[in-house]
Amino acid sequence: MSASTSGEDAREFYGRWARLYDLIARRTPGVPALRRRAAAACRLEPGDTVVEMGCGTGANLPYLRERVGPEGTVIGIDFTGPVLERARELTAEYDNVRVVRGDATRPPVRGDVDAVLATFVVGMLEDPAGAVDDWCDLVGPDGHVVLANAARSDAWYAPPVNAVFRAIVVLSTPPTTKLRYDDDPHLRLDAKIDAAHARLRERSRAVADETHIFGVVRLTGGRVGDGGYSSH
Ligand SMILES: C[S@@+](CC[C@H](N)C(=O)[O-])C[C@H]1O[C@@H](n2cnc3c(N)ncnc32)[C@H](O)[C@@H]1O
Repeated sequence: MSASTSGEDAREFYGRWARLYDLIARRTPGVPALRRRAAAACRLEPGDTVVEMGCGTGANLPYLRERVGPEGTVIGIDFTGPVLERARELTAEYDNVRVVRGDATRPPVRGDVDAVLATFVVGMLEDPAGAVDDWCDLVGPDGHVVLANAARSDAWYAPPVNAVFRAIVVLSTPPTTKLRYDDDPHLRLDAKIDAAHARLRERSRAVADETHIFGVVRLTGGRVGDGGYSSH
C-alpha cells in the first residue's frame, strides 16, 4: 500500500498551509468537542500507548495525553515536516508525547499499541480500507481504532454546512492534477471515507457510531474483533 498519489504535493501543500490549517483544526466551532469525543472513543487507560495517524498540527494530541496520563505514550505520525513542527511546539511540555515523521500506511512503530486514531486523514489515502485493516492488525484483538471524517449530510439544513466542508475539503486536498481536475475531489473523498468507515465496522464491535457538527462529521470507533470479522 502506498500513500496517495502525491506525497510530494501533499507535503508541499501542508507545509505552506500549516498555520492556516492549524487555525481551522483548532478553532472551527464544534471541532474541539469532536476531538475530545474521538479521544474518549479510543477507550484508553492510564499507561496505554496510542498512535495518531496523520496527526497534522497535533490538535488531538493533548486530548490523547489527557487519557493515557504521564505513564502512557502518545505517538503522532505525519509525513509533512512543517505541520509536525507545529505539533512539536504544542506538545513540548509533555515528555511522553512523540511526534514522528513517517507514512501512516507504513507506520514506524514497534511494540504494543492499544489504540489508533485518524481524524480527517483516510480520504487522502490511496487505499483507505486497506489502511484501516493494517491499523486493526496493529492494535490487535481488543485494541481500538477510531476514525472521524467530514462527509456530506442529507439533512435539510445541510447545504450551507456542506458548502463549508466542501471548501475545507478543497483546501485540504493537495493540488494534484489528478485529484482536482480528473475527478470531483468531494465525491472521491466521500467514497474513500465510506470505504474506511465500513471496513472498521466490519472489523470491530462499535464503541462509537455518531455524527457531529450538523451531521457532517462522522465518528466511528470500534474494539477490534478476535480473529474473524464481527458485525455491529
Ligand atoms: C486534513 S489534515 C488532518 C490533520 C489532523 N489529523 C487533524 O485532525 O487536524 C491531514 C493530515 O494527514 C497527513 N497525511 C496524509 N496522508 C498521510 C500519510 N500517508 N502518512 C502520513 N501523514 C499523512 C497530512 O500531512 C495532513 O497533516
